[in-house]
Amino acid sequence: MTPAAVFAPGPAADPVLRADVLAGLSARPRRLPSKYLYDDRGSALFEAITRQPEYYLTRVELALLAGHMGEIAAAAGPAVHVVEYGSGSGLKTERLLAGLEGPLAYTPVEISAAALEACVARLRPRFPQVEMLPLRADFTRPLRLPRPRRAPARTLVFFPGSTLGNFAADEAVALLAAMAGTIGDTGMALVGIDLVKDPAAIEAAYNDAAGVTAAFTLNLLARLNRELDADFDLDGFAHQARYVAERERIETRLVSLRPQRVHVAGHAFDFAAGEAIEVEYSHKYRDAGFAALAARAGLEVAAGWGGEPEGFGLRLLRQAAR
Ligand code: AVJ
Repeated sequence: MTPAAVFAPGPAADPVLRADVLAGLSARPRRLPSKYLYDDRGSALFEAITRQPEYYLTRVELALLAGHMGEIAAAAGPAVHVVEYGSGSGLKTERLLAGLEGPLAYTPVEISAAALEACVARLRPRFPQVEMLPLRADFTRPLRLPRPRRAPARTLVFFPGSTLGNFAADEAVALLAAMAGTIGDTGMALVGIDLVKDPAAIEAAYNDAAGVTAAFTLNLLARLNRELDADFDLDGFAHQARYVAERERIETRLVSLRPQRVHVAGHAFDFAAGEAIEVEYSHKYRDAGFAALAARAGLEVAAGWGGEPEGFGLRLLRQAAR
């Protein structure tokens, strides 16, 4: 046994998390991948964000689903296999499964086994006629979908919440292209996108008065303290979320409040006062820009609900005519 093994604290750190974090903190500007915001506590804090009065995204998307379900169901058609990217809280899914015409099967795609189980446990009793086929996978990679017992009329990918906005344009195109492969020739994708609007309204959504979003961002450092044996002082960093109009996105970062040295997995990192770690981008879309992203992935917008007045949109995508 090596000395390192003798003195290793707690369970072995996730080597991918460790490599991503060390690389990100060594880069300039420093950055941490936003997907690491979603540990158990982060996921719970995100659910709390969706209930803040300033966070219009979830409320508006739920209202769009409720208000247009007849048209959405007609466009999607009967007997679909719903494949959701990220399993979420299940509320939007519940609305969708209840509104569609006899959906055959449901596949939440999720890295967290606990989130997958919770989602299926919640939906199974509500929809006994829908075959539950959870898939533990990273949805940014091409997926091998489980095959429902009864043959579905088509695959319908559901990607709500404007989670697409957390990806830079090239990554978003790669994700949409992988989605195009997953739905095949006849499938469709229902994607939620937050739209460009009054910057003050956008900024407020990421700076709620109760401080839930700040707690959500800072929880990333608490996670690294726990999982990578780091010593971030949570009072030494502040959440900052600004809308950058030229890039049409919220940029969320953690700003060092003073000069300080932090240790992470045995490595030292020196922060200057005011130095930031980039944590998350949340892109906002215009119709033309979103259609162009989809087109780069071989997809086209078949239908849409919600626009400028609502501030959020649902868009139904299919393979572009060739
Ligand atoms: C639902 C994951 C897209 O970017 O609006 C909310 C995440 N971050 N508040 C978003 C988030 C801070 C959210 N996503």
